[in-house]
Amino acid sequence: MPLPSRVKIVEVSPRDGLQNEKELISTDIKVELVDRLTAAGFPNIEATSFVSPKWVPQMADATDVMARIQRKPGVIYSVLTPNMKGLEGALAAKADEVVIFGAASEAFSQKNINCSIAESITRFEPVAEAARAAGVRLRGSISCALGCPYQGEVPIEAVVDVARRYVALGCDEIDVADTIGVGTPQRVRDVMTAVTQVVDPGRVSGHFHDTYGQALANILAALETGISIFHTSVAGLGGCPYAKGATGNVATEDVLYMLRGLGINTGIDFDAVVDIGQWMSAHLNRKGGSRAGNAVAAKRAA
Ligand code: HMG
Ligand code: MG
Repeated sequence: MPLPSRVKIVEVSPRDGLQNEKELISTDIKVELVDRLTAAGFPNIEATSFVSPKWVPQMADATDVMARIQRKPGVIYSVLTPNMKGLEGALAAKADEVVIFGAASEAFSQKNINCSIAESITRFEPVAEAARAAGVRLRGSISCALGCPYQGEVPIEAVVDVARRYVALGCDEIDVADTIGVGTPQRVRDVMTAVTQVVDPGRVSGHFHDTYGQALANILAALETGISIFHTSVAGLGGCPYAKGATGNVATEDVLYMLRGLGINTGIDFDAVVDIGQWMSAHLNRKGGSRAGNAVAAKRAA
């Protein structure tokens, strides 16, 4: 299949990137991050989560973050909403898109959202209905689509089953998520090929963590199966609190560098993203996690 000429990048650093940080990050920094990402041209930014602050304390300021960011018309600001309480917060905060997040693995579903896969779908039904009634976009994320930290192998049919349920709930977009970054390109091809039998490929995204260094190869494999939406995080920030040892999402800078080399347009200012990655990493007192970002920064400093 020919590669797409344009790809939509969903920048997830303000949510997936920061949710696992041990030290509480100030709301000011979170707002500045989202505003800088907006200015760099991202069409869709995952801004925060309306989840229980007991479960994920870092996201406790979701309402403030949403109130203070400067929105650009046309940009989609997404937030996670595991239940009706989250949805109510998201609607009050005028989120453009809400994200329900379930798993293809029973064990992970229990650890992450404290219920079975079937119970999660039941819990998502009123959320989906209320989102549709409010005219807000709905996205469904499938965690552990390429492997689970608790049960290991995850059958492709389990991923397809959740995807089918999300279609029935009316999801506009469905994320195939490699939560712990264990997937390799052939498995990605097989999973994407199976999922796109039940969901239009234009509505499927790849959300790859880079724990095993496979994310760029996995994105290329997904592109070859017709996928054109990918989630990335500046400086490779991120990880899920309920997936021990899992590192960040694939670094945005690395993905933009690869896509530019492939002649694929994203509408995003690569140099501005390098700056954001370096700024955020300095703020967190660590070296940036993007190879391309660090290479460009070193060249600039030379
Ligand atoms: P629970 O404890 O079973 O729920 O948690 P509960 O209904 O019994 O509520 C417990 C307390 O939380 C109550 O407060 C609720 O009011 C409060 P209390 O009465 O004890 O004071 N509460 C809330 N507060 C604010 N907002 C809410 C909310 N809901 C309940 N929405 C629940 C169930 C789903 C809430 C919990 O398990 C939870 O919040 N989990 C979030 C887990 C999470 O955020 N994980 C990380 C994101 S997923 C991810 O990273 C994967 C992804 O990136 C894709 C991938 O890589 O795989 C998306
Ligand atoms: Mg994730």
